[in-house]
Amino acid sequence: MTIAQTSAPVGTPIANGTTALERFGKIERPDLSYTPEVAEATAPIYEKVKHIIPAIEWPALAPTIHAINQLKKQRNAVILAHNYMTPDIFHGVADIVGDSLQLAIEATRTDADVIVQCGVHFMAETSKILSPEKTVLIPDMRAGCSLAESITGADVRALRERNPGVPIITYVNTSADVKAECDICCTSSNALQVVESFGVDKVFLIPDKYLAANVGNKTDVEVLIWDGACEVHERFTAEELRDYRKIEPGVKIIAHPECPPEVVAEADFAGSTAHMIDWVKTRQPEKVMMITECSMADNVASETPDVDFIRPCNLCPHMKRITLDKILESLLEMKEEVVVDPAIAERARVAVERMINLKI
Ligand code: 13P
Ligand code: SF4
Repeated sequence: MTIAQTSAPVGTPIANGTTALERFGKIERPDLSYTPEVAEATAPIYEKVKHIIPAIEWPALAPTIHAINQLKKQRNAVILAHNYMTPDIFHGVADIVGDSLQLAIEATRTDADVIVQCGVHFMAETSKILSPEKTVLIPDMRAGCSLAESITGADVRALRERNPGVPIITYVNTSADVKAECDICCTSSNALQVVESFGVDKVFLIPDKYLAANVGNKTDVEVLIWDGACEVHERFTAEELRDYRKIEPGVKIIAHPECPPEVVAEADFAGSTAHMIDWVKTRQPEKVMMITECSMADNVASETPDVDFIRPCNLCPHMKRITLDKILESLLEMKEEVVVDPAIAERARVAVERMINLKI
């Protein structure tokens, strides 16, 4: 997969003629032994992940977690991690965790010099768009997204030409190039409210045809689609959910709105990754099934010990490119730096800030 990105390859000099490593300086590689000091410093973290990481594996992970946490201080860096990160990242090194909306908002609030985005490329680009003065790193530049891949800025321009006057809302899962061409951005947390905020009878919600259909089912506004889909969520089927209900009587099923509408119709609740987590924490169901990416259940299970998680899930191969080892390299070598053409970033920022300013 190629990423429709505006980022520079590793080590490429950027605007002021320097690489991030030249600007921030070299740091000596840490010793990655499992010393008593490391064991003590990481013990509170292990408490949070012990349900999912066997004790025998901890000595292999703890030194890297400890080294990353030390390096963050040295680099004045903050780690923003999406809810789909693995528990070692989510509980071990992240400063802020959340869904796409929460991460976008936090990117505007941090006073760190460096943002390490543990998520996929469009998320790192969104952080850079909102914080152009900060150095934004992504541990693996290849972490893409099938939705972001499905549409280009030129596609949006053509759509606008063919449909004059129809507002175009872009899901945050798109490149900066696409955001720059759209009227406003949305996430799965606020898509319905953004659609209704225009007060018109017809809008485009691109590029996820399922999110658009799910929002369309909840409003009188006609929601026009683009033919994109999330390769992870489109694999779930309503039949599969009905079968699980037979095998696991009483199970509560909660789904992400990137799933097809017939899957959402079978679920007890649908919402963004953050809304799904809140739902489980607030309702404390006896048994729950999260119809989404696999790490979600792992991450929330430690905070809800009384909930039994039934775990059918699909892995997002892009999210899974982000690993502890790559985060360590990222902070040591100050790579891979995400840069967005300032002219594109300025226009894309308007779309993202309009969404944030709606405060929904
Ligand atoms: P959320 O905004 O719900 O976290 O979704 C992002 C995403 O990529 C889900 O597949
Ligand atoms: Fe993209 Fe789907 Fe992966 Fe989310 S889960 S990053 S929408 S491919």
